[in-house]
Amino acid sequence: MFTALLLEEKDKKTHASLQRLNEHQLTTGDVLVKVDYSTLNYKDALAITGKGKIVRQWPMVPGIDYAGTVLASDHPDYRIGDEVLLTGWGVGEQYWGGLAEKASAKGDWLIPLPPGMSAKRAMAIGTAGFTAMLSLMALEQAGVKPDQGPVLVTGATGGVGSVAVRLLAGAGFEVHAATGRPEHADWLTSLGAAAILSRSELDAEPAPLESQRWAAAIDSVGGRTLAKILSQTKMDGAVAACGLAGGVALNTTVMPFILRGVRLLGINSVYMPREKRIAAWQRLQRSLPLDFEDQAQVLTLEQSIAAAGDLLAGKLRGRVVIQP
Ligand SMILES: NC(=O)c1ccc[n+]([C@@H]2O[C@H](COP(=O)([O-])OP(=O)(O)OC[C@H]3O[C@@H](n4cnc5c(N)ncnc54)[C@H](OP(=O)(O)O)[C@@H]3O)[C@@H](O)[C@H]2O)c1
Repeated sequence: MFTALLLEEKDKKTHASLQRLNEHQLTTGDVLVKVDYSTLNYKDALAITGKGKIVRQWPMVPGIDYAGTVLASDHPDYRIGDEVLLTGWGVGEQYWGGLAEKASAKGDWLIPLPPGMSAKRAMAIGTAGFTAMLSLMALEQAGVKPDQGPVLVTGATGGVGSVAVRLLAGAGFEVHAATGRPEHADWLTSLGAAAILSRSELDAEPAPLESQRWAAAIDSVGGRTLAKILSQTKMDGAVAACGLAGGVALNTTVMPFILRGVRLLGINSVYMPREKRIAAWQRLQRSLPLDFEDQAQVLTLEQSIAAAGDLLAGKLRGRVVIQP
């Protein structure tokens, strides 16, 4: 038996509770994992609160990420005692996820924990940090360099945003952090932000082309903010679009693309191929400070229910890890 956070649909509403479950209910894959740490991402918060259509099968154990130790394996790459990491692949949406003491995974979805990385550190990074790294790598692949000017990060106090600020600053970029919570400005500066902007400055109707401000951007907000960023991006700049915290619609014009050669780069962390996944995680291990995981809040499975509401209400800062 093991304990899990279980989501059930009752009267078309999501009901979250801790339940004792039997291991034979874990049928997803060929590797059984003891979950040492999981985490709370935006998507998990939407699933737990029922505020987003994330769950595709009921009942569901949420948790799109976990890191832990192999308990049993029928997969040739994994043996008992191996330390592994999983993010994405529809886990916590379509397949039972990591907010539990145990989980079953397809071995092909797992990667070994990068050398030197603890399970707690991996989950302090989580899908949010992984997405920040994929966004940075996409900008670099598009040819963006630190001497081309400031790089904007939106939703800067959030999971993706705060890791993006750190990673960009560490890679030598001048980072401008946009936030709706100016009370965290000193914290963002400590992460490496050179300037702080108000969220409302960007959440406004854009002209087709505005003054050129950004060499590049990592945007976790979407909506009107993304349209504004595009209209302010410099000639040949690039924008990594990875989130929708502010909305899903994108009402823009082709002007930034055809008159300034701006590139809009979509980021999807969920189905990232294994080779790129491993490279991104190894770079995360090298790039983030040794005490990175000490700054994450550690919560229990039970506390994750209330924390999901807090995350969506913008009451959390940075990253949260869950210790089942
Ligand atoms: N593409 C992918 O593979 C991928 C992977 C992970 C996450 N995501 C997406 O990225 C986004 C951020 O995820 P996260 O885990 O970083 O969530 P998070 O920790 O909740 O951060 C989101 C941040 O966005 C800002 N924000 C919140 N509501 C807003 C609003 N109405 N308008 C403008 N800004 C708002 C807040 O930052 P400030 O208070 O500092 O403004 C908040 O901290 C989510 O939409 C998530 O679904 C995508």
